[in-house]
This record gives sequence, C-alpha cells and structure tokens, in this order.
Amino acid sequence: MNAIFKIWRGDAKGGDFRDYTTEVAEGMVVLDAIHDIQRAQAPDLACRWNCKAGKCGSCSAEVNGMPKLMCMTRLSELPLEKPVTVEPMKAFPVLKDLVTDVSWNFRVKKKIKKFKPRAPDAPEAKSPEHAQQLEIYVAAARAMFPGTLVEGQLVYAEPENLDDRALHSQR
Ligand code: FES
Repeated sequence: MNAIFKIWRGDAKGGDFRDYTTEVAEGMVVLDAIHDIQRAQAPDLACRWNCKAGKCGSCSAEVNGMPKLMCMTRLSELPLEKPVTVEPMKAFPVLKDLVTDVSWNFRVKKKIKKFKPRAPDAPEAKSPEHAQQLEIYVAAARAMFPGTLVEGQLVYAEPENLDDRALHSQR
C-alpha cells in the first residue's frame, strides 16, 4: 500500500510542505516512512532520531498537527487514506526540515536539582499519606501501562514492586 506524506521542508527563513509517496507495510512507524523517503527520494531531508524506542525524544515532530514521537507513532493508527503531515515541533525554532533547536532543554536541565531519594525508613515513608499516595500511583500506573519505567527500570504495576523511590520519581 502507498501513502502520501506531506513533509515540511525548509529552515529558519521559511519553507513549505512537499508531497512524498512511499510504500508502507504492517508494523511501520512514521520514522520508518521518513527514513524510506530520505533513502529513496530526499537524501537531504533532515530529521533527528537516536534510540528508536521512545526514550530520547530526538524524533519529536508534529504528525497530523499533534506533537508525537515519530518512532512510536504507528502508521496503523493514522488515517492513511489522507496525506500524513509531518512538520517540525512548533515549540522550538526550526533549524532544517524536521530538526529543531532544542538547546533550551539543555539549559533548563542544568537548573534542575539532582534527585536525592529519601531514606527508605524515613518516618514520612511510613505515614498514611504515603500509603495513600502509593495507592494512587499504583492505580494510575495500572491504568496507563501494564509495566512502566521508573528511574530507568521496568517496574510492573504491582504494589510489591513499588517502593519509596518509585513514589519519589512521580513528584
Ligand atoms: S528516536 Fe528516541 S524517542 Fe524516537
């Protein structure tokens, strides 16, 4: 099956959408289509990506007008009977095509204080408020994911797998 992608091409001075038609297959994500287009039709198309696993945020773009991670946006979730628009994130200044200047993130990151977990046996860790917060967190985690990443570790949303560090990471 073929799909049409309207990809924004340009730089800080301006640009416009260009149409690319490419073959799509089951299991593909938007980033796969962008790479196919880049490989076969537009070798000068600028796009940024890194992990291809939804972790780094490098592949952020607006897909059909919504901010998305291209590596996590399945083509099967999009109405492919219409062209799929892909444009740079509006929140950041454009450098080229789909690549934006995200240096603001790094400047802000430097201002964030280092995370310091409290001791697991701290008195507040045993309070009824703590237990209530933990319950809320578990319910939210269950609703969102069968498993979720907490401080880089996959934690299944079961109370026995959650501890104070998990709760801290949600603050
Ligand atoms: S490539 Fe890292 S989030 Fe998409």
